[in-house]
Amino acid sequence: DYDAAPFLPRRGGLPAHRRAAARCQGCPLFEGASGTVFGAGKSSARIMFVGEQPGDQEDRAGEPFVGPAGRLLRTALGEVGIAEEHAYFTNAVKHFKFEVAARGKRRIHKPPSLREMRACRPWLSAELRLVHPEVVVALGATAGKALLGPSFRVTKDRGAVLPLPQEEQRTAGGAGHEPGLVVATVHPSAILRSDEREAAYAGLVADLRVAAGALG
Ligand code: URA
Repeated sequence: DYDAAPFLPRRGGLPAHRRAAARCQGCPLFEGASGTVFGAGKSSARIMFVGEQPGDQEDRAGEPFVGPAGRLLRTALGEVGIAEEHAYFTNAVKHFKFEVAARGKRRIHKPPSLREMRACRPWLSAELRLVHPEVVVALGATAGKALLGPSFRVTKDRGAVLPLPQEEQRTAGGAGHEPGLVVATVHPSAILRSDEREAAYAGLVADLRVAAGALG
């Protein structure tokens, strides 16, 4: 089955992993995308933000959260006082999945399949181990399921401080390896599509305040 594991380096830090991820062919998504969009931020980051997959602009830039959703997220982080230098940004799936619009050449985002999510999971596990953040923020359902399992629901689980499940406890936790925590919220691009954008944005900010408060 699809699996990124054979492409992971056996040793090394974030830079070695970023270089290896650039060559990942663990699932077919590498064929259509411009390149791998690995996580961005320092290994000393205290909080990790996990999205779904890079968007059109992230695919072109090779950096996560540089498009409209990323701008909205960064504005919200500013509001709750989370400094970007303490943050690491990444995605559950590291290649852009899209279809080309029938007319024209606009690339339209397609959600990753469960198989693609599972295949890509070793990269996220490596990032959790190498960054060992105190708090992980799951942005939307794909990230929530990747971190908390298939029963995750945004509506039910958002805004609460949850323990990172056992299998990730080895890999995350703060610098002193205290247990890792997860706070889930909506995906910022869902806010951009919402009919009630202000209320949706206020909900994101409220959840991010919970995440900021969970930092020791
Ligand atoms: N949406 C995501 O989930 N990730 C990005 O990097 C950008 C938009």
